[in-house]
Amino acid sequence: MTQRQVKPFYISLKPFLDHNSLPRPVNWPSVFGNDHPLEVEIGFGNGEYLAKLAEANPNINYVGFEEYCERISRTLRKLSRVPGGSAGSGSNVRVLRLDVRPAFNYLFDGPSINFIHCLFPPPWPKKSDAKHRLMTTAFLRLANSRLRERGGMNIVTDHKPHAAWIREQVPGSGFVLHETIVPACYGTKFERKWAEGGQKEFYELRLTKAQHIDVPHKEGLPLKHFTIDRFDPDGFVMPDFSDGEVAVVYKDLLYDPKRQIALVHVLVHDEHLLQNVRVAIVKKQDTWSVHLAQGSMLMPTPGIAKAIECVKAAAANSGTHT
Ligand SMILES: C[S@@+](CC[C@H](N)C(=O)[O-])C[C@H]1O[C@@H](n2cnc3c(N)ncnc32)[C@H](O)[C@@H]1O
Repeated sequence: MTQRQVKPFYISLKPFLDHNSLPRPVNWPSVFGNDHPLEVEIGFGNGEYLAKLAEANPNINYVGFEEYCERISRTLRKLSRVPGGSAGSGSNVRVLRLDVRPAFNYLFDGPSINFIHCLFPPPWPKKSDAKHRLMTTAFLRLANSRLRERGGMNIVTDHKPHAAWIREQVPGSGFVLHETIVPACYGTKFERKWAEGGQKEFYELRLTKAQHIDVPHKEGLPLKHFTIDRFDPDGFVMPDFSDGEVAVVYKDLLYDPKRQIALVHVLVHDEHLLQNVRVAIVKKQDTWSVHLAQGSMLMPTPGIAKAIECVKAAAANSGTHT
């Protein structure tokens, strides 16, 4: 009887960075242990291209941003198979689970990236979804500000109207655009999908930095602790908050009466960033402390600061009904 081959499931977490534990901005040479040129891949999906680039260019450091956990796991599996140990401590790849927009705003300060790769960004073809498209003029300006002199960005799309829409975003971004039509040549999952569906031509948009655009680094806000005199979990009512810049939406409250700890779950929206946040209300002798719960993985945005304030106000108000 032949033994069933078991797929190796070993994943080294070494290339994975928890953005919450990084200084902002990040000192990338100290992360990699060298000052090799830095390249970024946005939306690396299952990581085929990132692994290929890292293997082919051991003297370039790569940072990838992706939002889906499953795709990050697949990428970590691929990186662990790269000969030369791309998952090892001397690796030239790091991956983060993060939207590239807050990443560029908070984690990078000034021109530090040599090149940006972005293969098949979602085209959001419906007009009503256009607000989700990534390559707006504002984002191109942000990318430009983080690129070094003569740096560039390569965007590839299967979707002709999306290529035309990106072209319209370029004026005012400090980039010059060179467009070409290419065959399937990147070897990624999404490229294979379109190629297997019969698509032979893809739209490659090469942006070269011609003029520097300054978009200042965003500082993370110091998040406050509040102290309130009274708190009644049964009387807790928290209205949603929105001022056009940030929105805070109450989801639920869990209370442990034995330990006298409440966890308030809120959704916080800042620009494109949606964060699930837990705010703790903890009994301390005669008072209650209101602060961000430990382990919340987040960017300390104005929305988070507002969420803590909203919970504090609702908690303080709950106590007045008892
Ligand atoms: C159509 S898939 C392409 C994936 C991969 N590049 C490929 O060619 O197979 C687009 C990927 O971009 C990621 N993505 C979209 N917007 C992003 C953003 N703002 N920041 C980081 N990743 C993003 C998505 O999660 C998704 O995995």
